[in-house]
Amino acid sequence: MSARAPRVARPRREVLVLERPEDLYEAAARELVRAVRSAVARRGAWHLALAGGATPRGLYARLAQEPFRDAVDWRRAHVFFGDERCVPPDHPDSNHAMALETLLSWVPLSRGAIHRIRGEAAPQRAAALYEREIRRIMEGATPRLDVVLLGMGADGHTASLFPGSPALEERARLAVAAESPKPPRARVTLTLRALNAARFVLFLVAGPEKADAAARVLEESPATPTRSLLPAARVRPARGRVLWLLDRAAASRLQRALIMPRPPSP
Ligand code: 6PG
Repeated sequence: MSARAPRVARPRREVLVLERPEDLYEAAARELVRAVRSAVARRGAWHLALAGGATPRGLYARLAQEPFRDAVDWRRAHVFFGDERCVPPDHPDSNHAMALETLLSWVPLSRGAIHRIRGEAAPQRAAALYEREIRRIMEGATPRLDVVLLGMGADGHTASLFPGSPALEERARLAVAAESPKPPRARVTLTLRALNAARFVLFLVAGPEKADAAARVLEESPATPTRSLLPAARVRPARGRVLWLLDRAAASRLQRALIMPRPPSP
């Protein structure tokens, strides 16, 4: 009788619900510091991908303040982006512009440490240039980011991986052009290959409009066919940790007891 194929244990997702947005940002900042310190101790550098949208603004502002600003060695950081809108880097919709305004202008990064997606270029070319930049900085067939910050839309999208998008099925490339149903429509996004190679993925989700998608993502049956999962549910690094930080409103439809990760270090 053939031996049964060993079930690949999917790493457990950790879910933590926080009362207020500031608690969310504080918990996220502590978790990020912990992951960064581990990366620097092991490899002497750390590679971060920032999320776009509105939710992370509060986290970025918190990271730019004490005690977090001096809690990590920014000179050893390389900063990437999970996705970008195809707009100029100083455009109000640019994720790069938001990150610069809230965080990157306030911390002592080394010269050339910010690896933005060229939103001003044609999307396919921007995606190719971005992948080339990732591979210039990080080694390996599938480079492993130390920390990936992600948000989630009310439709369950993450980065610029939207439900039904062909970008979800990309297996070879690390970054591709994608279409958003909401403007700015033209995007560039990391693919699931890149996201699922990460050592640590931190989802930051807030607001009642996310509650239905959060419940679907976090409580879907393991038997659900992959292609039926919402994009955020498909971020499951085989060799990485996934922590979901939600505010009470975004967690309001969750049924099961929430798994509480290690308490934040003092
Ligand atoms: C973007 C983000 C996107 C975002 C979600 C949630 O470029 O918009 O990468 O995936 O994280 O849309 O956005 P909010 O935080 O604004 O709700």
